[in-house]
Amino acid sequence: MLSFEDDAPMIGLRTSAPAFTAAGAVERAPLSTSGFVPVETLQRVRVEDKRVINGKADVNQLVPFKYKWAWEKYLAGCANHWMPQEVNMQRDIELWKNPNGLTADEQLLVKRNLGFFVTADSLAANNIVLGTYRHITAPECRQYLLRQAFEEAIHTHAYQYIVESLGLDEGEIFNAYHEVASIRDKDQFLMPFIDTLTDPAFRTGTPEADQELLRSLIVFACIMEGLFFYVGFVQILALGRQTKMTGAAEQYQYILRDESMHCNFGIDLINTIKLENPHLWTPAFRAEIRELLKKGVELEYRYAEDTMPRGVLGLNAPMFKEYLRFIANRRCQQIGVEALYPGAENPFPWMSEMIDLKKERNFFETRVIEYQSGGALNWD
Ligand SMILES: [Fe+2]
Ligand SMILES: [Fe+2]
Repeated sequence: MLSFEDDAPMIGLRTSAPAFTAAGAVERAPLSTSGFVPVETLQRVRVEDKRVINGKADVNQLVPFKYKWAWEKYLAGCANHWMPQEVNMQRDIELWKNPNGLTADEQLLVKRNLGFFVTADSLAANNIVLGTYRHITAPECRQYLLRQAFEEAIHTHAYQYIVESLGLDEGEIFNAYHEVASIRDKDQFLMPFIDTLTDPAFRTGTPEADQELLRSLIVFACIMEGLFFYVGFVQILALGRQTKMTGAAEQYQYILRDESMHCNFGIDLINTIKLENPHLWTPAFRAEIRELLKKGVELEYRYAEDTMPRGVLGLNAPMFKEYLRFIANRRCQQIGVEALYPGAENPFPWMSEMIDLKKERNFFETRVIEYQSGGALNWD
């Protein structure tokens, strides 16, 4: 039986002697982009050598497992697999085309909503594939990121599928992130943090660079996936609760399930990096994170006002202010910074039920009868 605890016998020709530290331990060379370990430093992977960032263990070897939480999320993501075309959009199409169907405000809400989402998940995918992935040196976490990247592609597909099904003006919807100020402002807030990770010259390994990485990971998980998606999710799911746009709402429900796992994975990743690198988590850094979260709440609130200028579906922008404050507090608590808005309450308790699909619930006059059956939910 293979044991990963023992070092492998050296194979192949040595091109140079391994470097030894003063303590006599083998100093492992920094990894190449592919994670391939040169033969002169070849050793079997030991659990204790694995690190989420700046690891020196071979990233091509998934086992021995160290970060089981990441592997379990990968398995759960696969078990929740779904595809947009599995959802019937016929009722949505009929409602959208019916002159007495949705009000003008409801139509504006749907268009502004999609206007953000049709490009947001492409940004998320780019951030993972071109940025985050190469800076993370735990193969279990990389495995989850690969799954997550595919889920972002499915989400972009789902939004495109809704736009196509309803026959919306694609130019208008796909350009909203350039042309609608409240959407553009959210994306412009995110761009510097995405650019940090995707910059080919960016390398971790110094406290400053590692803080830059951590900051970008927090912005991505806690503000982009953990805050900027939530006004949009509430809106479409609220429509679904009124038996309007139930196909779109069902798609959003699957997406919400995926995104809440992305957010939880990101938070586990952040907390593990903190644990392995406590020197990064300074009071000044924490204060900066709180300011970023506060800015995120302001931007998302402006988007809520812009999508619901007169209030719609029994929802209005001030309700979202309280909701966003409630979520921001939750993100603060999840990563271990002081809450920003003490006492904020959840005005949409039904959203918690939507996020938690593990139990039987009634949504949109359909009923979840089984969780993870053949990779998809069953509805009757
Ligand atoms: Fe997504
Ligand atoms: Fe995501």
